[in-house]
Amino acid sequence: MRTVRDLTDLRAVLGEWRAEGARIALVPTMGALHAGHMALVEAARRPGTKVVASIFVNPKQFGPNEDLGRYPRREAADTRLLTEAGCDLLWLPPVEVMYPAGFATNISVAGVSDHFDGAARPGHFDGVATVVTKLFNQTRADAAYFGEKDYQQLAVIRRFVADLDIDIEVVGVPTQRDDDGLALSSRNIYLDEGERAKTVALPRALGIAARAITKGDDPAAALADATATLMGAGFEVDYVALADAETLAPDPAADRPRRLLAAARMGQTRLIDNIAIEPN
Ligand code: PAJ
Repeated sequence: MRTVRDLTDLRAVLGEWRAEGARIALVPTMGALHAGHMALVEAARRPGTKVVASIFVNPKQFGPNEDLGRYPRREAADTRLLTEAGCDLLWLPPVEVMYPAGFATNISVAGVSDHFDGAARPGHFDGVATVVTKLFNQTRADAAYFGEKDYQQLAVIRRFVADLDIDIEVVGVPTQRDDDGLALSSRNIYLDEGERAKTVALPRALGIAARAITKGDDPAAALADATATLMGAGFEVDYVALADAETLAPDPAADRPRRLLAAARMGQTRLIDNIAIEPN
């Protein structure tokens, strides 16, 4: 696997591959890679495809009191994992390549980013949409792979890709989980052993609430039960909410696909998870 840190080099390599007729598949990440990221690389791989992973800890998507400074950076281990997974190219732009002096543009997606993590983390999805737009333009990839773990992020990306006529296939990949059900995340390493043991309450509470709502129980009661369970387990709850699976509008109609979404803090660590609720 080659690593490039300069936009001219990136375009030269991709230009050659495109001239050979290769399909270019992009896997955007912030590094500290785990099996969740590797599932995206795996999904992207197929004959005739060159897989490009990007690692960029994007300052624009972190709030002033968030973990930008201590976000894990592990270039050597990440390079090894991507090589083993059959990734063809690592795009590793320095911050001054991504945001040169004078950078002034912001992509902001209304509606789908209004609630949940958009409300809890002001400016977060603007930062995501802006950097992902740049990654799409830098690589001119045919397809890009994102995890359902960050469900609202995926919905925001689908929205601006449609709105801005970006010619790319956006593929969502199911959430990869540890054996006890906790969604894999680069932030799980912040959890100490005691905290980690308690976090199993998050996927469990969402599973129970999803089953209750699917069989027709009152969603408000199911959400309240899940919130109480999480608080009982030692979480500080940001939100437990039901939304339309596409628009992420709250109070969704029951005859459409819905998504149950949650964010909660265990100690200093903020975790998110979500689960599908099929129409009944
Ligand atoms: P990061 O948190 O590194 O995640 C990169 C990609 O991996 C995202 O699409 C995310 O949804 C996916 N992912 C993370 N954990 C996963 C899991 N357990 N199962 C499946 N997929 C998982 O998300 C970002 O980076 C950034 O916001 C980014 C899109 C790169 C823009 O900066």
